[in-house]
Amino acid sequence: MATSLRLVCFVAVAWLLASSSQCQGQLTSDFYHATCPRALATIRKAVRVAIARERRMAASLIRLHFHDCFVQARLCFHISHRIPYKFILSIGCDASLLLDNAPTIVSEKNAIQNFRSARGFEVVDEVKSRVEAICPGVVSCADILAVAARDASEYVGGPKWTVKLGRRDSTTASKDRAENDLPKFTDSLDQLISLFSDNGLSARDMVALSGAHTIGQAACVTFRERIYDGTNIDAGFAKTRQRRCPSVGGNGNLAPLDLVTPNSFDENFFKNLLQKKGLLASDQVLFSGGSTDAIVAEYSRNRSSFFRDFAAAMVRMGDILPLTGTSGQIRGSCRVVN
Ligand code: HEM
Ligand SMILES: *[C@@H]1O[C@H](CO)[C@@H](O)[C@H](O)[C@H]1NC(C)=O
Repeated sequence: MATSLRLVCFVAVAWLLASSSQCQGQLTSDFYHATCPRALATIRKAVRVAIARERRMAASLIRLHFHDCFVQARLCFHISHRIPYKFILSIGCDASLLLDNAPTIVSEKNAIQNFRSARGFEVVDEVKSRVEAICPGVVSCADILAVAARDASEYVGGPKWTVKLGRRDSTTASKDRAENDLPKFTDSLDQLISLFSDNGLSARDMVALSGAHTIGQAACVTFRERIYDGTNIDAGFAKTRQRRCPSVGGNGNLAPLDLVTPNSFDENFFKNLLQKKGLLASDQVLFSGGSTDAIVAEYSRNRSSFFRDFAAAMVRMGDILPLTGTSGQIRGSCRVVN
């Protein structure tokens, strides 16, 4: 009797948790139609101005959305098809990345993967202030990141897609989780596949999303080991990269992730991998005799296949357990909790 009562209790508590949890909240593309009809046009305009000023900003903004979505622990009651009831630490697109250090906030900007690397925060501030000027307190910073990433891709010749909206902003951040949850350039193929799979993304999604490295720059410290000690690297390419990335010093010296067309979103990133000219070890690992070789080869031959998969994967990534409904808040400034 006592046991069955306890069971009933457990089920009741579990049900309450499940129904109050916002983890299953749905995003919709027309979320701001009534509350801020000019939101998307306003974001788009400010993003385009920023990229026109500095082309690399397109890359930096896409990366911010990625680094936002992959981080932020939150206990959430998850009902999946395979495992009916399971507690998971959810991580999601909640603008946690944008919070600065504060008495109760340990900023994710200082996580190894972001420190002196994640950039574009001033552009996000600028976009946010323009949106606040037309509809104060309505549009979340998390949604701004999602829209900016889409607009950035389109501006530099990449695919476009319909962005789903309705994310809310977190009131917390976690530097430790960021370090734990974000991929590292030293990760093996298995580690990358499993990290993305923790977020409900397939190996194919992972390869497509890595194609974002068709634009943007990386610092010497992230590819030094590969260009001096790597085995799976084109010798001429390694020599060229060594010129501006000495074996000691120059950690911050930049090189393009795609040596052919660093400012245009195209399939050259994958063509480079076929020639062992991936800059990061974690890029080349996608084409190194493992299970993802065929996907890389396909994308290198077929831009529309890459674009279609990239767009779909960005939408899936943007869907990673967002805060919705009454969870979280709409920050007034993306850098601080209200
Ligand atoms: C698969 C695992 C990934 C790893 C290990 C990785 C790692 C890195 C590293 C080390 C850099 C250079 C950072 C620096 O030196 O400052 C970088 C840059 C970049 N990453 Fe990734 N990345 C991954 C996936 C992704 C994904 C999924 C996206 C977006 C969808 C992305 C977008 C970018 C962009 C656009 C840049 C250039 C940023 C800029 O120029 O400001 N990366 N990444
Ligand atoms: C390229 O990919 C698209 C979209 O997946 C597909 O419809 C098309 O047949 C492919 N083209 C070639 C030449 O394989």
